[in-house]
Amino acid sequence: MNSSWWREAVFYQVYIRSFADGNGDGVGDLAGIRARLPHLVDLGVDALWITPFYPSPMHDHGYDVADPRDVEPVFGDLAEFDALLAEAHAAGLRVTVDLVPNHSSHAHEWFEAALAAGPGSPERARYLFRDGRGPDGAEPPNNWPSVFGGPAWSRVPDGQWYLHLFAPEQPDLDFTHPEVLADLEETMRFWLDRGVDGFRIDVAHGMAKPEGLPDMVPMEDTGLLADHGPGDHRFDHDSVHEVHRRIRRVLDGYPDRMAVGEVWVSDDDRLAQYLRPDELQLAFNFKLLTADWDAAALRTAIEHSLATVEGTPAPACWVLSNHDRPRHVTRYSDGNADGTRRARAAALLQLALPGVAYLYNGDELGMPDVDLPDEALQDPIWERSGRTERGRDACRIPVPWSGTEPSYGFSSRPDTWLPMPEGWGPLTAEAQAADPGSMLSLYRTALALRAGSPALRGEGIEWLPAPEGVLAFRRPGGLVCLVNLSGAPVPLPEGELVLASSDVTGGSLPADTAVWLTAG
Ligand code: GLC
Repeated sequence: MNSSWWREAVFYQVYIRSFADGNGDGVGDLAGIRARLPHLVDLGVDALWITPFYPSPMHDHGYDVADPRDVEPVFGDLAEFDALLAEAHAAGLRVTVDLVPNHSSHAHEWFEAALAAGPGSPERARYLFRDGRGPDGAEPPNNWPSVFGGPAWSRVPDGQWYLHLFAPEQPDLDFTHPEVLADLEETMRFWLDRGVDGFRIDVAHGMAKPEGLPDMVPMEDTGLLADHGPGDHRFDHDSVHEVHRRIRRVLDGYPDRMAVGEVWVSDDDRLAQYLRPDELQLAFNFKLLTADWDAAALRTAIEHSLATVEGTPAPACWVLSNHDRPRHVTRYSDGNADGTRRARAAALLQLALPGVAYLYNGDELGMPDVDLPDEALQDPIWERSGRTERGRDACRIPVPWSGTEPSYGFSSRPDTWLPMPEGWGPLTAEAQAADPGSMLSLYRTALALRAGSPALRGEGIEWLPAPEGVLAFRRPGGLVCLVNLSGAPVPLPEGELVLASSDVTGGSLPADTAVWLTAG
């Protein structure tokens, strides 16, 4: 029996710019996380994932890393990170950090050297520089689009082109170059030696590109969240698995460390390959994140996610929201539907499933997306798409902590890097902590039960017969979870009520409500 700490853990994603600002500049930072550790302990999560806090010119808010082994001054310094790590560990929280191997920043010293050194130089060989096509090489070397819009190639003054699957300020590294992998291993050791408990690996299905960089099959939707299926040569190339085996060998040199991959590969068997015994311990199951509020869609998402991990050593790993997608409160509020009510039910669904759960900061407060005016938008997707796609800022609004006016205790100043709306007083952690009926109270209770109750133990689920539009399953430990997506009340089955997402007095399970029951 494998009992590693992460197998049933609840991870909390800290989007560092938006979690808590410790120094009053309107941007979240490491000091802010330190100050808010008590919130995370009270919430009852097991581990943190902190998004990139490394030196960066912030063209993709930290996912453009100029030096992977240091701290961006906006976020703090190494001493601050060490203090955060020590305090989190003392509070019983594990800490995992983001690893961004697929690309560096254009401000990384390697890329600056590559630009200076010229075509054919060893400096250029760490990236994917190529000559263009067409008479003067004036056309990009292939037809690949950037996932942020526009071509995946930019031309430099001497006429060569370089590959960037994301923004031009994020040049892709060439993983066939031995120094690239060696440097990644050095970065891993740098943070592991400091004591981090693991990594979230960015674009873990990237890194490897096919020999000769052939044209891809043109696809309608090639964006960040597209299904990078067969014919999309930018992602999920077979040789990526050798990179994962190298990553795993480094991790295995340290006790109890883990890595979770961001793998946007929807085919169950292809995704399962990343979870072989000598590769990643976990891969996000994004199927819950992409499923509508619909019983059949959610059931399919759950079945595929469980089928993916069956036959691998990995548990399932459930995600409802993250910094790249509309938040689920907003996704579920189509028409007149009450997204918050559905989000409460979804929380009980996510936390009843076997395996690992990832919460995104603000999930526990029921934060919705916020429509920002054009001039406030910061995501590179907005400009790269020719201002046709608004990007991901709406789900990255700073977390409201206390008080009744912006910035609600997030910062000592009212104006924040993305503006916070009026009227969020009732959404703050402070207001919700005092209300037993709040989203925060629901999360706290659910997480305490999940940690303490044998009914929530055991791998796998057994689907139970249920009325049309109702999901019902039992965990091996005995917990029964029902979610009513039928749009109308259904009879509440026998059993002892453990927790409900909405009022269930009167013997029925109302629409958009989830319950946890035991045999009683
Ligand atoms: C991942 C991150 C996303 C980032 C991209 C490029 O998808 O989650 O935020 O923009 O990688 O690094």
